[in-house]
Formats: sequence, structure tokens, C-alpha cells
Amino acid sequence: MTTFVTGGSRGIGRGIVQAALQAGHDVAFTYRSNRAAAEEVVAWARAHAPQRRCEAFALDVRDPVAVEAVGDAVLDAFDEVATVVNNAGIVANELAAHMSDARWAEVLGTNLSGAFYVSRAFLPSLLASGGGSLVFVGSIAADGMAGQAAYAASKAGLVGLAKSLAKEYGRKGITANVVVPGFIDSDMTRESMPTQLQAFWAEFCPLRRMGSAGEVADAVLFLASDAARFINGHTLCVTGGLEWAP
Ligand SMILES: NC(=O)c1ccc[n+]([C@@H]2O[C@H](COP(=O)([O-])OP(=O)(O)OC[C@H]3O[C@@H](n4cnc5c(N)ncnc54)[C@H](OP(=O)(O)O)[C@@H]3O)[C@@H](O)[C@H]2O)c1
Repeated sequence: MTTFVTGGSRGIGRGIVQAALQAGHDVAFTYRSNRAAAEEVVAWARAHAPQRRCEAFALDVRDPVAVEAVGDAVLDAFDEVATVVNNAGIVANELAAHMSDARWAEVLGTNLSGAFYVSRAFLPSLLASGGGSLVFVGSIAADGMAGQAAYAASKAGLVGLAKSLAKEYGRKGITANVVVPGFIDSDMTRESMPTQLQAFWAEFCPLRRMGSAGEVADAVLFLASDAARFINGHTLCVTGGLEWAP
């Protein structure tokens, strides 16, 4: 069984790649520009899951032509892909009044259009193989987040995309679900938030801590497993309760 993960070089995506390998999947993953980080993941796979295949592909998910080319390359290199994880994402912390067209397009292009292009590229092979799983990595920002209008809009859009695919392709045995990470330890959180704000969010979470990439990965793998074959169009929170905390 092969799993395809976008943005598998770092953070949550890396956690998903590692968990999938440990669960016995072969894995194809992408990175945008951080080749050294992608090579680290491939080296980790050689050391920890030597019997599994793990290959990295450079891809900017904003480019639909490149997405099709990488999709074809992955399907040539691996038998068939059973699970597609749309994880690649970026955040922009800017008030709407100050956000440039370019920044808006970069965030929407990466987080939302990229996930659409990738899903579209793999749907024909999922249909041909009689089923599979699409998993999207969302955010609690989908309900609105001051200072993150583009990010929030992109993540809200992912929910609509996932639910639409769930309805279009459910009858073909393909499920589409969203995993919503809470406040997770990754480069994104370390680079986009001052330490004090990180401490605030960890304390605000009912479990009083950040989550780990591995904890998000467990939920992704569950949605991709036979145990979740009747779960479709669902949003699964891996947040420690952050989204409903008072
Ligand atoms: N961390 C959190 O607390 C948190 C919370 C909620 C949701 N999320 C979501 O979880 C996902 C992963 O976040 P993270 O924290 O793991 O981020 P991260 O540590 O910054 O890693 C981002 C990953 O996405 C890749 N990427 C970025 N732009 C890309 C593009 N245009 N095309 C292809 N790949 C691209 C990066 O590749 P390079 O290594 O080459 O740069 C990297 O592998 C994102 O969708 C994010 O919105 C994160």
C-alpha cells in the first residue's frame, strides 16, 4: 500500500511519512525547496523502515502542471497510491487591510488550490483501483482567526473541498476527510509565533500542552485505514480540545 504526502519534509508532514512507514506503507512525499530536510526523511526511512520504499519529490503544489507531472511520476514509480494526504501549507500573520494580492494568492494557492490540484491528479488512479482515501490537513482557523484571513479562508475552503469530494466519489469507494491539528510543535509554530504566544496557546489548551506531529499522524493513518472505511466528509479534531476551550 502506498501513501502520498505533500509537505513531508518537515513538521506534521514528516510525522505522517514516518508513521505511515512504520505502519508498513510505502511512501512518496513532496517538499517545496528544502531538499536537505527531505533527504533526512529518506535517510530516516532507510534506517527505520528498510523494507519499505520511500521517495521524495520536489514540488510546488501551487503549480498545476508540476502537480500533474509529479503525480504521473509517483504512479509510474509505485504500483498504486491508496492514500493521498494534502498536508503542505503555509501561514501568513497579517491583518487583512495590509495583506497584498501576492501574499493572499500564495496562501490560497498553497493551502487550497494546491490541495485541489493534488486531489485531481490522483483521482483517476483512485477511481481505477476502486477506492482509497483523501485526507486534508485543516486548522481551527477555518472558523475565523484575527490576523490570519488568508490562512483561515484557505482552511475553510479545504473543508468545502473535502466534503464535495466525499459526496462526488463516496459511491466509488473513495473517502475524503479533514484532520484538524491543534497547536502542534513544528517549524511553522516556532517561526510564526513569539515564544510568549506559544506558551499562551499551550496553556489555553485543556490538555495544557502542544501536540506532536506523531499525534496528528495517528489520526491521518486512522482515516486511511480499513477501520475508517465508513467515515466520509468528516472533520476530526486532534487539538486537545483547543477549539472549544473557554
Ligand atoms: N503546526 C501547527 O500547529 C498546525 C496547526 C494547524 C494546522 N497545521 C497545518 O499542518 C500542515 C503542516 O504544517 P507544519 O506545521 O508541519 O508546517 P511546516 O513545519 O512549516 O512544514 C510545511 C511543509 O509544507 C511544505 N510546503 C510549503 N509550501 C509548499 C508548496 N508551495 N508546495 C509544496 N510544499 C510546500 C514544506 O516544504 P519545505 O520543507 O521544502 O519548505 C514543508 O514540508 C499545514 O497545512 C498547516 O496549515 C499546522
